[in-house]
Amino acid sequence: MRFERSHTRKAAFVAVASSLVLLASACGGDDGSSGDGGGSTAGALEGRGPITLASGKDTSGNLQNQLNAWNASHPNEKVELKELPEDADAQRQQMVQNATAKSDAYSVLVMDVVWTSEFAANQWITQIPEDKVPDLGKLLKPTVETAKYRDKLYGVPITSDGGLLYYRKDLLTAAGITDPPKTWADLTAACQKVSALPAGKGIGCYAGQFEKYEGLTVNFSEAVNSAGGKIVGDDGKPNVDTPEALAGLEELTNGFKTGAIPKAAITYKEEESRRAFQDGKLLFLRNWPYVYAKAAATDGTSKVAGKFGVAPLPGKDGTGVSSLGGHDYAIASSAKNKATAIDFINFMASEERQKANIEKTSQAPTWASLYDDPGLNKQFPYLAPLKASIGSAQPRPKVVKYGDVTAAIQQAAYDALSAKTPPKQALSDLQTKLQSLITQ
Ligand code: GLC
Repeated sequence: MRFERSHTRKAAFVAVASSLVLLASACGGDDGSSGDGGGSTAGALEGRGPITLASGKDTSGNLQNQLNAWNASHPNEKVELKELPEDADAQRQQMVQNATAKSDAYSVLVMDVVWTSEFAANQWITQIPEDKVPDLGKLLKPTVETAKYRDKLYGVPITSDGGLLYYRKDLLTAAGITDPPKTWADLTAACQKVSALPAGKGIGCYAGQFEKYEGLTVNFSEAVNSAGGKIVGDDGKPNVDTPEALAGLEELTNGFKTGAIPKAAITYKEEESRRAFQDGKLLFLRNWPYVYAKAAATDGTSKVAGKFGVAPLPGKDGTGVSSLGGHDYAIASSAKNKATAIDFINFMASEERQKANIEKTSQAPTWASLYDDPGLNKQFPYLAPLKASIGSAQPRPKVVKYGDVTAAIQQAAYDALSAKTPPKQALSDLQTKLQSLITQ
């Protein structure tokens, strides 16, 4: 009995001592990253076996094919798709819930590029040593930047996204317009000309994504940036109470007022707006590259196959500025089998997989070389404007409280677009709100 007690105590001591060792290494003792307060969670990427991939709804229809390719060669380390909702905010919510519950249900997270700071600072995702990602240098630089927090890597960019202007080439040609619009004024003028044609009767002029969700933050940011404004200035401080931001927002509010943007667009996310364009209801559409393959489909699902073109976004005084979109794959801190997870991520990041993906889906790759591939350029003439769009794209605010920041932007923009709050008032309220959220 006596022996047993002291034995138990000794065992308890050993357990405490070893958990202190674990704690010390979890705090970054091993990689010298301790003490930066930056949420570093670099640890060994260990453990092999089955994993899961938590991803927003796969509107491309090709993700499972990519996973099948991995599963075929990794029968003991298969990846299972956990499909989350279509809209980015709902995906984020589920991932945050999973992280705060420290659940191991999600191994690899398909993260919107805007979430990195928040997830890294909260230690919801694992820091990835750069030497574990051999091809990092081959990826477009702005995409790699999205996966970093305080100069450390927390994800690997798998798809990028730049906003594009889809336009009805057939209708512009019929109206005698040879080039797609470069400015908002050109765009409005083109709409007027086309609406005077019999074929242009009843067609909406322009739509983007204006429902109250992440896509509205994207569209609002593009309008502000394309009028020369910035949501967060170069000094890191909010900067939305400016004439430039007002010009950008008013371009959208006026669009709704005049009817150039159809009323229904206030309910549009990516898919609703894509369908409207594909059904022949819009002359111009702002959307991401994935739309190209769907709109070009010749199986009867698209009414505009062979009739549309793609150009850079227009702006106030010249070409506009896209928001940088896309997705990075990260490893959930609470996941098991992290050695398998990093191998799987590298597999998905490989040039071969990315090429296979763009061929099927027209999603933007992150490998720089693919933008210069002659075969791909022939199949996807949007690649040149896309590369330019990504190269000059403006990231959305890189902040730890991103969830709150985007909610504030969405609220302000939505209230202005639905004529609840005058644009100037909405921007000055937003400025105050952002000042309380962005303090670093
Ligand atoms: C796309 C982009 C992403 C963006 C989202 C908004 O998925 O890749 O960055 O936040 O659209 O709806």
